[in-house]
Order: sequence, then C-alpha cells, then structure tokens
Amino acid sequence: MPNFYITTPIYYPSDNLHLGHCYTTVAADAFARYKRLRGFNVLFLTGTDEHGQKIEVKAVAAGKTPKEYVDEIVANIKELWDNLNVSFDRFIRTTDDYHVKSVQLIFRKLYESGDIYKGNYVGKYCRPCESFFSEYQLINSNCPDCGREVIDFSEEAYFFRLSKYQQQLKDFFGNNPDFISPNSRATEMFKNFMEIGLSDICVSRTSIKWGIPVDFDPEHIVYVWIDALANYISALGFENTQYSDFASFWPCDLHLVGKEIMRFHTIIWPALLLALGLELPKKVFGHGWLLFGDDKMSKSKGNVVEPLQLCKRFGVDAIRYFLLREMPFGEDGVFSMPVLIARINTDLANDLGNLVSRVTAMVFKYFNGVLPKTQQEECVLREVCVSATESFAHFMDEFNPPRAIAEVWKIIVAANRYVDESAPWALAKESGNPKLSGTLLNLLEAIRIISVLISPIIPESAKKIQKQLNLQQDLYSWVSIKTFGLISTPQQINTGVALFPRIDVAQGGY
Ligand code: MSP
Repeated sequence: MPNFYITTPIYYPSDNLHLGHCYTTVAADAFARYKRLRGFNVLFLTGTDEHGQKIEVKAVAAGKTPKEYVDEIVANIKELWDNLNVSFDRFIRTTDDYHVKSVQLIFRKLYESGDIYKGNYVGKYCRPCESFFSEYQLINSNCPDCGREVIDFSEEAYFFRLSKYQQQLKDFFGNNPDFISPNSRATEMFKNFMEIGLSDICVSRTSIKWGIPVDFDPEHIVYVWIDALANYISALGFENTQYSDFASFWPCDLHLVGKEIMRFHTIIWPALLLALGLELPKKVFGHGWLLFGDDKMSKSKGNVVEPLQLCKRFGVDAIRYFLLREMPFGEDGVFSMPVLIARINTDLANDLGNLVSRVTAMVFKYFNGVLPKTQQEECVLREVCVSATESFAHFMDEFNPPRAIAEVWKIIVAANRYVDESAPWALAKESGNPKLSGTLLNLLEAIRIISVLISPIIPESAKKIQKQLNLQQDLYSWVSIKTFGLISTPQQINTGVALFPRIDVAQGGY
C-alpha cells in the first residue's frame, strides 16, 4: 500500500477557532479520506502551535500560565475537530517534549554546520504575525503578510543563512513546477520574494520567554516559525524517539496551508530542509480565505462565525459541504447565511436527500423493503456513473473539491431525472411489471456509487445512506464503484431518517 502524508498548519491556540480556520482542516480531512478510499496508507497530521508572544500576552491577561492557557484552548480545538469529523491520525503540540527535543537538536545541527550564526538583528517586526521583515519586503511600510503596522527592532539574535539557498531553491522550483500549487501562488512567491532576493532571517529572540530555549545558549528562544515548521518532521520522529515514521512518510505528499503562510512553507521551510540535507515536500497547496463580506474572517475584525454553533444548528455535514463546495479552487470564498441555507435546501435536501428518500420509500411501498430477484436493465445512469467517478478522481487528485463535488451532483441530477422519466408509480400500476424492480435496482446502484463518492466530503451522511442500502461492505470500496450493476437481488434495505431537513428561511438567522 503506498503511503500518503498530509498535513495542515498547526493552529495558534490563542483564541478559539472560527469557521475560516476550519477550512484548512476540513479540506485536508476530505483529501485524507479520499486517499484512504483509494487504498493509500495515510498519515494525516494536525496540531497546535503553542509558543510565542501572542500566547504569552493572552495568558497573562487571563491570569494563567501560558501552558494552562493553551491546554484549555487545545482541548476546545480537539473537540471542534471531533465535531467536524476530522479524521487526523496524529496531533502534535509544540509543547510536547519530543518536539521540543527535536527543535533543539535541529537548531544545534544548523548552528554546527554554519547555517545558523549569531549576529545583531535590526529591522522591522510585525507583532501579530510574529514575523521579522527587511525594509524592502514591506508593502506601503506595513507587514507584507497582514498589512498591519510594523515596529523598529534591534537585539542580539541567531540568523539562518536563507540567502545561501537562493539558487538551490530557484533550481528546485524550476525542476518541480508543481511544487507550489495553484500556479498563481507560485507566481506570487517569485515576484514578491525570489526575484527581490532572499536575505538571512532572524531565528531567535531574547525578549520572549514562552518558547523553546536554544539549548547551548538558553537566553535565546527559538523563533516561533522554526519551532512551528519543524512539527512536520518531529511528528514523524525526526531527531526524537517518540515516533519512527520518518523513513516511510517523508517527504510529505501535501502541506495544505492558507495563502498568507505560503512564504514560510515554500521558501523558508524548503531552505531549512536543504540545510538539514533532507528531501523537500512534494507539494504545498495554498488555499484562499473564507471571507465574510469582503473581509477575511478573523477575530481581530470581529466578523467570526462560530463553527460549533453552526454545526449544532445545521448539522456537521451541511457545514463541511458548504466549505468544500463554496471555496473555489485555491481562491477566496464568501460565507453568508443565505448561501449556506440555499446550499442545504437545494443541493442537500432537494437533490441528494430527496433522491435517497424517494427511492428507498418506493422500495418499501412497492416491495415491503425487499427488492425482489431482478434482471439488471441497461440505463443512462451507467454511463453517467462511470464517467463521473473518473472525473471525481481526477479533480480530487488535483485537490479541487468543488469540481469533484460537481461530478457527484451530475449523478444525483441524472438519477432524479431518471425517476421522473421512468415514473415507477406508473409502472407499479401494472402488477408484476419487471421494469419496476429493474428501475429501482438501477437507482439503488446509483445511490451506492454516490454514497462512496461523497464519503470523503460528508462522511456521516454517506454512512447513513450506506446503512439504508444495507449492502455488504465490499460494495462500498473504490474498486467496486467502477462497475455499475453489482448489487445482487433480492436485497433487503433499511428505513432511514431524513438526511437533510429543509431549513425554514424565515428562521434563517442564529
Ligand atoms: N500557526 C500558524 C501555522 C504554522 S504551520 C507551521 C498559523 N496558525 S493559524 O491558526 O493562524 O492558521 C491556521 C490555518 O487557518 C491556516 O491555514 C490559515 O490560513 C487558516 N485560516 C485562518 N483564517 C482563515 C480564513 N478566514 N479562511 C481560510 N483559512 C483561514 O498560521
């Protein structure tokens, strides 16, 4: 079985997470589930990025130690992932002992090889991003990542020789045109950073206490981004004995990250790996932001949408579906309550929910829930299913959920049309007409294939549908859905509850 290693960024537990944050993890979860379905041995990593000034300040304000403060929020984050059915295999906290040890050894290694050296840092610093910039990187004198004000800064610090890796990175990008995805992000990275030229970066701080000390010079705390990026290899057991998966899972197949942290993942991280003599990740995908109106959803802008409340009100799968369907490939998407409700009522309730309920209801109405021995009939759904399955795989392999979902909806729409056109209620009027059971068998077959295809997107609903169909587990495998016509009859099905209750628009708010 081939391995597939996929990561999300590790989250700042400085506040509870909002719906925008959930996008990265829900998308990564959909890819992880899809790869498992395709037979890959998946390692899906997520976690929390717990050090740094932001957290130190928040903890003091809350009257807690930083560790007490993060423990509480990390528990909330895990609860959130649990609610959203995020099937991570490993959760790393940068306060975990094994990670601390790895970071210290990595720092020491780079110092001993001369890639980290001591100097004096003079420059600009963005407090919210905890990032240092040189003058020319600023945009309109502000932080190039978040656009906020930066301050002058000077202190003794360690530096990483990023400049030394300029040419190697350039060559790597040239030889691996798919490394940065989508393409537009690669262009951004070239224009904004590579073409200007890379300068060495500051990788330690003496003014912060909450972080990992440099073991050979403990006044210095390892810069939060080095600490954070190292999670991707420490979580595999690089320079620690907690895990031993490095040889089998590195290089990473996919780092999925938001667009604002592409510079760290496509320039600084690869340079650090080159300095450590390690292979570079296969792909970094930079997704867009979930906007609320025109603005990025963020706590500081006061426009956050609480994911747990949404899940309680509309159901987890409705929220997962919305995120994966509404965020265009690599671009920004917009959250609004009317669009969410329209997606639930139209796509989920009218199209999918209605298809499953009307077909299963007919099996009960006409056959008491047991579809009798039936000859498979040729029908239009065969071609639709085979081609949509192929295209679904193509788009998921490109990490493009909205297009992949649209392929599943081609089957759903075709199946609903097939119900209308074949009119089983009319066939039922002629008693013993074999066309009735043949029609329903074709529809159950389409629903079987739909249930497998949507399982990475809306896993809970997929499971409910599969329970209703009551088929053997092997009919829900990827291989099985390549063939239309595998359900054998007689087949007993189960009753089910409405998958997606319609939302009354008059009560749309929350
Ligand atoms: N701690 C760093 C990552 C270090 S990885 C070595 C960080 N954390 S974060 O909590 O701020 O963000 C985590 C993820 O949430 C990022 O992928 C970020 O892009 C994503 N999002 C945060 N707000 C978002 C939206 N409004 N929309 C979509 N994704 C957003 O960055």
